[in-house]
Amino acid sequence: MNVSVDLLNKYNVQVPRYTSYPTVPVWKENISVTQWKETFSKQFSIVNAETGISLYLHLPFCEKLCTYCGCNKKITTNHDVEEEYMQAILKEWKQYTALMNKKPVIAELHLGGGTPTFFSPENLQKLLQSIFDEAIIPEHHEFSFEGHPNNTSKDHLQTLYNIGFRRVSYGVQDNDPKVQFIINRIQPFENLVNAVNIAREIGYSSVNFDLIYGLPLQTLEGMQKTIEQCITLRPDRIAFYSYAHVPWTSRGQRLFDEKDLPTPDLKMKLYCLGKDLLMQCGYHDIGMDHFALPADDLYLAWKDGTLHRNFMGYTTQNTGMLLGLGVSSISDLGNAFAQNHKTIHDYYQCIENNELPVIKGYFLNEEDVTFRKYILRVSCQGNTRFAEKDLPLLEQFAFPELEALQADGLLNYSAEKMEVTPLGRHFIRNICKSFDLHLLRNIQPSDKNLFSRAI
Ligand SMILES: C[S@@+](CC[C@H](N)C(=O)[O-])C[C@H]1O[C@@H](n2cnc3c(N)ncnc32)[C@H](O)[C@@H]1O
Ligand code: SF4
Repeated sequence: MNVSVDLLNKYNVQVPRYTSYPTVPVWKENISVTQWKETFSKQFSIVNAETGISLYLHLPFCEKLCTYCGCNKKITTNHDVEEEYMQAILKEWKQYTALMNKKPVIAELHLGGGTPTFFSPENLQKLLQSIFDEAIIPEHHEFSFEGHPNNTSKDHLQTLYNIGFRRVSYGVQDNDPKVQFIINRIQPFENLVNAVNIAREIGYSSVNFDLIYGLPLQTLEGMQKTIEQCITLRPDRIAFYSYAHVPWTSRGQRLFDEKDLPTPDLKMKLYCLGKDLLMQCGYHDIGMDHFALPADDLYLAWKDGTLHRNFMGYTTQNTGMLLGLGVSSISDLGNAFAQNHKTIHDYYQCIENNELPVIKGYFLNEEDVTFRKYILRVSCQGNTRFAEKDLPLLEQFAFPELEALQADGLLNYSAEKMEVTPLGRHFIRNICKSFDLHLLRNIQPSDKNLFSRAI
């Protein structure tokens, strides 16, 4: 589908990605740790009995800096750092288990980074075993990790498989050597082929790829080749991310010339090309930036309306609580968010003092919970129904925004419901913004450089 340049320019403004609502800039610094602990204990006793919890471990180390990277990472080649970091995570876990009324049921576990496969297989095994010693692992669980194709070994894959991991996501980004050179990520395609083949031989049921459009020096020809090559490996899911250019927080992005970034028009063409190729090859478009084969759980969840989205991305598990451990990790208790310290130094200091390392966060009120549901429905299902009790707020804030989006053909809405059109699916972030009461009440011209651009 062709999207006009006028429309692209109009909507290519800074917009949150809505991995949380309210979004991080609204959160308060130095939240009350006592209130956080009380909320955690209360929510845990409800959620754990009903669905179990989701656990996220942030493993921040990488051996080499990819200049485009927007993640919280620490570059080092010294592997001695593994032990100290593992000890810190285990102490943090212990602080949380002390707040639990029963053993936690870990229904979902994700290792993210940084590069989880920076850690040796033995260390990952040791770390996870210590966590599992204090927990119950239900028969139906979903464990996944992010693997770097350059350093995910057979040993990593086998070790993690033996302790219940069945899903691996490989960071592919782009196969074009010119792009790989400028982003400082030389990654021969054979490495990816190897990593995929080993995972499949071992028995992983889901192999996912991360690709990015909008990287410096990307061309339509290069993107076509990258996608065609990737499809030969038949990944079950593909996250096709829009490059988030945030040089004010990710300094590595200052290491290439902004002139080498694709124009918004080319960036959208790169996305459309990728999307068309994926759909021609049997992938389905689900939510924001994600594609899956028809047999994949994510697609099935999208089809039956149970897809959920949290800080780890789209998921089929909606456990009601995501506990994040490690530097910069974010926890979502359903009615409260908190983020850990963002530097390893500050994180270690809190752990040493036997304090929870949460630094900023937010306790949701009833209005936040309601509007969060609307945003989740839009980003997971592309439609939502409106409750009558919300109409006064919707009429005041959301409907004027929806009216303008409807005039551009991005959605259809009435007082009862709203549905995103195929054209509107390119602008999901802009549509979610219509329900962001915090942003709509407080838009200030000086709020520059908080978010990446929508496209
Ligand atoms: C923690 S990294 C993946 C694991 C591993 N470190 C690797 O690079 O293969 C998670 C994913 O975030 C995505 N990512 C990182 N920086 C990004 C940016 N600036 N814009 C969009 N996506 C980004 C990449 O696709 C990357 O694979
Ligand atoms: S993309 Fe992955 S390997 Fe590269 S710096 Fe970021 S987290 Fe590390």
